[in-house]
Amino acid sequence: MSTIIRGDKLTLSHYLLSHLRDSNIQAELNLVISDIADAGKKIAHEVQRSGLLDLHGAAGGKNIHAEEVQKLDDRSNEIVKSILSENEQIVGLASEEEKDVVDVSGGRTTGFIVAFDPLDGSSNIDINATVGTIFSVLPSWADIRADFLQPGRSQLASGYVLYGSSTVFVFTVGKGVHEFTLDPDNGEFILTQENIKIPETAKYISYNEGNKTKFRGSEAKAIDKLVKNGGSSRYIGALVADFHRTLLKGGIFLYPAVSSDGGYIGKLRMQYEVKPLAHVMHEAGGVALINNENAMEVAPDELHERVPFVFGDKKIVNKYQKYRYDT
Ligand code: AHG
Ligand code: MN
Ligand code: MN
Repeated sequence: MSTIIRGDKLTLSHYLLSHLRDSNIQAELNLVISDIADAGKKIAHEVQRSGLLDLHGAAGGKNIHAEEVQKLDDRSNEIVKSILSENEQIVGLASEEEKDVVDVSGGRTTGFIVAFDPLDGSSNIDINATVGTIFSVLPSWADIRADFLQPGRSQLASGYVLYGSSTVFVFTVGKGVHEFTLDPDNGEFILTQENIKIPETAKYISYNEGNKTKFRGSEAKAIDKLVKNGGSSRYIGALVADFHRTLLKGGIFLYPAVSSDGGYIGKLRMQYEVKPLAHVMHEAGGVALINNENAMEVAPDELHERVPFVFGDKKIVNKYQKYRYDT
């Protein structure tokens, strides 16, 4: 039973209390999710003022993925780290912007570990387009580093905060996917969609067309066939935004492996992007694949691993898989 406050507006904190209790989920997760929402509010504040606060552009260094770090990547990383490291339930953090796991256990051996992409889609910052923060919460018993390498199905919670025309917080604790929208008048996240299910009717196809000549032949052929069968193209270039559209409107997103000197390599990061979004997609009734496997069943080999990633509604993803192997 949910508690309704202020008319029909249900705030995140009230929802968490009732939802987690009704779902038999560890109450301590409540604080982790609230902290992520708080970090999201702070980042939203900076994103909205980035042009005024001289937060556009590069910070002047490269991260572990050899990508140019943007000023807002750094700011967002610091915000998430400082808030989560104060949470006594959390023992370890892994960030796309950190070389190694950050131990915040203070000697405690069990608790939550959180992996996050502090700012996804950072090429969109300077043009005022949508960016977001993605997170994944796992249990940890002893070895923080090893525990990050659990498969997607071990996640206790995951989701994202999207900084778009509104700031929305979308999460799952394994009992449905819910969306909260930040009310700018009072700084509260308010429930706007409960138990989101991906529609199976829309036909958006989302991938970086500039990479297509570098995809494996079977994948390029299957994409051509999907397009031929009718479908509009959409690609924002910020995974979190492409994901949110796919979740609400349906269709398929693909970031297949791209050929390079060392063979075929994926771009998207298993810990910070793929695992959490696969969890949300799965909970929304969709499907997410790494190569041909259910992304929820795949365990990362290493912290910063990159993988190919496909997700969408079941119908269109099945069609894509069929086209790949049809002769
Ligand atoms: P990040 O900004 O966290 O480094 O992630 C960028 C990722 C992802 O958001 C997006 O889907 C993808 O890069 C876009 O890559 P391309 O520019 O190669 O299409
Ligand atoms: Mn990212
Ligand atoms: Mn990022």
